[in-house]
Amino acid sequence: MFIMTELTAIILAAGKGKRMNSDLPKVLHLVGGRPMVVFSALTAQNLGCKKITLVVPKKYELIRQSVSSQLKKSATVKYAVQATPRGTGDAVRCAIEVAGLPKKGAVVIINGDMPLISPQSISNLLSTHHKSQAALTVLSALHDNLHYGRIRRSASGKILGIVEERDASEEELKIREVNVGVYACEAEFLSNAIYKLCDKNSQKEFYLTDLVEVALAEGLTVAAASVHDVGEALGANTPTELIHVNREYYGLRRRDLLLSGVTLNGNEVFVDAASSIGPGVNLESPCYVKGESIIESGVTIETGCVIKSSRIRSGSHLKAYCYLDQAVVEKDCHVGPFAHLRPDTHLMDNAKIGNFVETKKSVIGPGSKANHLSYIGDTRVGEHVNIGAGTITCNYDGVNKFKTVIEDGVFIGSDTQLVAPVKIGKGSFVGAGTTVTQDVKPYSLVITRVPQKEIPGWAKRDRKKPKS
Ligand code: UD1
Ligand code: CA
Repeated sequence: MFIMTELTAIILAAGKGKRMNSDLPKVLHLVGGRPMVVFSALTAQNLGCKKITLVVPKKYELIRQSVSSQLKKSATVKYAVQATPRGTGDAVRCAIEVAGLPKKGAVVIINGDMPLISPQSISNLLSTHHKSQAALTVLSALHDNLHYGRIRRSASGKILGIVEERDASEEELKIREVNVGVYACEAEFLSNAIYKLCDKNSQKEFYLTDLVEVALAEGLTVAAASVHDVGEALGANTPTELIHVNREYYGLRRRDLLLSGVTLNGNEVFVDAASSIGPGVNLESPCYVKGESIIESGVTIETGCVIKSSRIRSGSHLKAYCYLDQAVVEKDCHVGPFAHLRPDTHLMDNAKIGNFVETKKSVIGPGSKANHLSYIGDTRVGEHVNIGAGTITCNYDGVNKFKTVIEDGVFIGSDTQLVAPVKIGKGSFVGAGTTVTQDVKPYSLVITRVPQKEIPGWAKRDRKKPKS
């Protein structure tokens, strides 16, 4: 049995990512809406690693921000700059020189572009490492289409080395067992062996994978453990691979959601890594749940919805084609179809927002309704308010935004404009077609209407053009 507290992690994130053709560092490309390197950092944190060292390029502020915003405050993360990316072996050397290594115990090394590695695979790696008393244990997978380093074995199955695809012979290219890019290593071995690597290969880089041969030359044991699911071995070096990794990620997420009691009607359901979905939620395909969204149990989300960094509480129902961004929907609300809840919308319990209604920076009080064709912005709506079809809060004069307050029990007739700043007092009634420009006292009727004019028989007029 290994002791978790002795674990140290090194995450490799300084590569140029040339094959990505992008200015963004490769490890910041998103999988399931989360930068790839954050997956590796969270894996290390969840393993209980006492010390986590990230090897980063010179400009690493964005990497630092992404990682530190996602890890627990208590996690000790050090950043080791590898000014020139001279290979994965050189990257580990940088980590050791900046952060040091414990005298004893295991070090886990994780490539920062392998976001799908599961906790089961790492725990398999560590238990194999400890059981076999190896100096180095590599995580491997059997795969036909990955351009990864191949694991060379003797006829009896003993590991002999890892050869990179570009350095491999025809025979070696046929090997199906590949190096996934996650390693367990004894600190004592690593601290010396890392200086024994050389760069005699097609890329003139220091390959971490050559540690296998260093260990064997010293008569030490090298072991391999298998990934839990072969899909985890997918990494992203190119834009196409990134698409595949995302497809795999969302597929694995759907599998986990089903196992946790979520109902998915159809396959096009995409739930981001930082979003959580309670058991008993019903999601209809297609549907996107992005960012740090929280969807509580018992919510139904019909087809075509996009939910971004929003919270939807139990018993609420989103009808088809709604777009929510940084909104909070409290319990038992009805939203849509075709509703747009923009940032800082807060629907209180039992509120109803219907078709073609847009809300922004507004609180809609308990039991209040805006069922059709309205814009509600910078507004505080009290409880049991009825907002009629075609109501617009005129909150913007082209320069500044102004607030509207609609107190409890107000009834707003259809086709009304509320020109902010304005307050409609409790229990008031606004007649259809009114333009409200001044505050309305509680329990009043307010109405602005051009008097109706009727000309009897006018429609029967002779419409023929006069003869010229
Ligand atoms: C590496 C392995 C390969 C394995 C594959 C699987 C080596 C030599 N090869 O190849 O056997 O099958 O991963 O994932 O290790 N990095 C640095 N500094 C560097 C170079 C790389 O920090 O100088 C980082 C990268 O940012 C990346 C990781 O190390 O996160 C792996 O580097 P990458 O260039 O992607 O290695 P592969 O060619 O994929
Ligand atoms: Ca890679």
